[in-house]
Amino acid sequence: MLESIINKTSFIKEDIVAMLSAQGDDQKALFAKAKEIKEQEIGKKVYYRGLVEFSNICEKNCLYCGIRKDNENVERFNLSDDAIIEAAKFAHKSNYGSFVMQSGEIMSPAFTNRIENLLLTIKKETNDELGITISLGEQTEETYQRWFNAGAHRYLLRIESSSSDLYYKIHPEDKKHDFESRLACLKSLQKIGYQTGTGVMIGLPYQTLDDLANDILFMRNFDIDMVGMGPYIEHPDTPLGKHNEELMPLIERFNLALRMIATLRIVMRDINIAAATALQAIDPIGREKAVKVGANIIMPNITPGMYRNNYKLYNNKPCVDEEPQDCITCLDIRIKLADASIGYGEWGDSKHFARRRVTSIK
Ligand code: 5AD
Ligand code: SF4
Ligand code: FES
Repeated sequence: MLESIINKTSFIKEDIVAMLSAQGDDQKALFAKAKEIKEQEIGKKVYYRGLVEFSNICEKNCLYCGIRKDNENVERFNLSDDAIIEAAKFAHKSNYGSFVMQSGEIMSPAFTNRIENLLLTIKKETNDELGITISLGEQTEETYQRWFNAGAHRYLLRIESSSSDLYYKIHPEDKKHDFESRLACLKSLQKIGYQTGTGVMIGLPYQTLDDLANDILFMRNFDIDMVGMGPYIEHPDTPLGKHNEELMPLIERFNLALRMIATLRIVMRDINIAAATALQAIDPIGREKAVKVGANIIMPNITPGMYRNNYKLYNNKPCVDEEPQDCITCLDIRIKLADASIGYGEWGDSKHFARRRVTSIK
């Protein structure tokens, strides 16, 4: 029985593997416990982060990703500064507490300057009322610091897998894809004072339950504030997408992703956990299901409609034909159906972050 495990207050790897393997009634108990802990620690609110995927130009070649540099079947785009600022104003006006800027990875002085200026302008144009998360990959500590000073206060950098062996199976092994550098980036972000987010893909080829349990332990040991993780979905134009003999069926990857979210909520009770969009690529109400088992953040896509189709990291990405307003209306109804309410106009910061800071000051 899983009951004795889910009611513990500290967990060893075997407990986590048991939770990740739960089926039938055990799985139901796992999900119910995660929901209970979420409501007890952080309440029933879901926070929105309006997401702008502003450019699909990327210098990297992650073996799983549809917008990797070597994929020539992608039409590259780069939104103008004005369009990004407009999107931020839209998020503000729609009373979303926060805004997320994400793009392919570029490391250059021009890119650093551009983002710094955008952050300063967005902060000004929204009266400092909009929380800003950025997800712009690996950068130098100096760049991270400049962006922090300019107004970004949360950063998402998925570790993808906390096992360096698996990391190198899904990335080319070269200077641009170095596991240790990625870890060092996460450490810099935390040191600077960002609310630091990471995440992994679930159901990758070669990945075991042991790997996933280690990912959860990694997040706990790193004292991470926020997590976004979702199922791996093969993209046909990528090296990894072409070798999918050993993949588990999509629906199993989906259920495993839900168990990862629930287990993480039980292990790290007060962090922010996003319901990843990739869940919805498998199940039309995938994100709502995640909210019911522990997730408390949703990132509605507010990229202007005409560009959405070109930001395809994986197959079957949802909402590619919608406009920002369509997603808002649609999501409001969906969240209510998921027995949650929406934290309009609030930043919805990670409670874990606030507690971690207090403890470190003491
Ligand atoms: N399937 C699922 N998630 C993916 N990502 C990239 N490619 C895929 C894929 N094929 C995720 C990575 C990355 C985030 C922006 O999107 O985890 O960090
Ligand atoms: Fe670029 Fe990110 Fe895709 Fe890797 S996962 S190829 S860094 S956009
Ligand atoms: Fe985009 Fe429903 S959330 S259309």
